[in-house]
Amino acid sequence: MEKLLIQGGVKLFGEVNVSGAKNAALPILCASLLTSETVRIDNLPHLHDVTTMLTLLGHIGVDVELDEKMGVLLCAKNVSCLQAPYDLVRTMRASVLVLGPLVARFGKAKVSLPGGCAIGQRPVDQHIKGLEAMGARVEIDQGYLCVSAEQLVGAEIVFDLVTVTGTENLMLAATLADGVTTLRNAAMEPEVLDLAKCLTAMGAKITGAGTETIRIEGVQSLNGFDHAVMFDRIEAGTYMAAVAATGGELLIKGVDANIINSITTKLAGAGAVIKHEGDDLLLTVSRRLSPIDIKTAPYPGFPTDMQAQFMALDTMADGTSTISETIFENRFMHVQELKRLGAKIQTQGNIAIIQGVSSLAGAEVMATDLRASAGLIIAGLIASGETAVGRIYHLDRGYERIEEKFGRLGAKIKRVTN
Ligand code: EPZ
Repeated sequence: MEKLLIQGGVKLFGEVNVSGAKNAALPILCASLLTSETVRIDNLPHLHDVTTMLTLLGHIGVDVELDEKMGVLLCAKNVSCLQAPYDLVRTMRASVLVLGPLVARFGKAKVSLPGGCAIGQRPVDQHIKGLEAMGARVEIDQGYLCVSAEQLVGAEIVFDLVTVTGTENLMLAATLADGVTTLRNAAMEPEVLDLAKCLTAMGAKITGAGTETIRIEGVQSLNGFDHAVMFDRIEAGTYMAAVAATGGELLIKGVDANIINSITTKLAGAGAVIKHEGDDLLLTVSRRLSPIDIKTAPYPGFPTDMQAQFMALDTMADGTSTISETIFENRFMHVQELKRLGAKIQTQGNIAIIQGVSSLAGAEVMATDLRASAGLIIAGLIASGETAVGRIYHLDRGYERIEEKFGRLGAKIKRVTN
């Protein structure tokens, strides 16, 4: 089992190269199923989840190859198996994103129900409700979603709650439906907009992506595309939170300031100095930060995927802060691990009260989910002595070469196998 060993107490200085966004790459990879033509995707992050999705697409019959510039070429001309098996889906819930495109283009799909995960039950009822509204028959058989439809038809769909992959799955399905589909109370995340840009390049007729109402006019067929995945705003935010915690200076190139505004506003409000020049961002922190209160919300609110990282930041802030997690019902599992390092945190339901302390002491801690792992690394970077973070397979799902990127900023961090 691998772990990361971190010697904390070191300020970080330097530039980090942010990878392509995992949560944009995954739905865009599934868009390849909508056409028999070859598609090319650039700036794919080298992550376990991306590998899992490529494995799943290969299982379905998509030809997958890398070109000389590390772009991925995909061709779904000879799709043979309209199934997403349990052993793949259980390791990555986003596998459910093959459902919409498979039903839209081939008229049926059998996808294992994604189980719950550490942060919550994460049902897919909104995905199912939308497909049924578009005329699909949906049955659950031995843990599999069996979906069929001779031809999906356009529908008016109002989501009961904002769901990112629910919006993406139904947008994918609607591109080949007969008629117009309107998605209301849709997710406005930038990754949804990146997918819509990709689908539009394929010939899909989509308006309103990035707003709460998306209109998709179905077409007969779609062409190939060549798309570069947008930057990973959560990875960028994670490194910003780390340098804000340790003190120092961080340069990130190729970031859209508007997209990370909810993160930078919080950091600036706590005392970080943030400068934007074009799409370059420079963050400088030279003093102990003030406490940062957070309430997670769908975009453009504060992202739930940044909650654990900011909790780590708050453990040594100059005062008491409150974090309210409104998206997932069980996303405080990093609290117990942070308390092992000496953090003072009380939780009441989905509210955490963090009393800033003057120091943390390194200890052995265990990652429980992807973003909690990132929070524990940040805590390890500010704790005195050595922190050992175990179960870092969670981390490798969403962060590319994290110890290398932190090492380049001066962090004393190494991966060991015990
Ligand atoms: C996406 O997950 C992201 N994953 C998550 O990132 C992110 O935390 C989440 O959106 C919220 O921003 C990908 O994009 C691959 P949701 P998703 O559907 O789509 C409930 C990471 O760390 N819900 O927006 O699965 C659900 O239980 C991951 O990169 C239903 O009740 O999240 C949750 O409480 C973690 N029924 C809320 O909605 C449904 O049919 C938001 O979930 C769908 C969702």
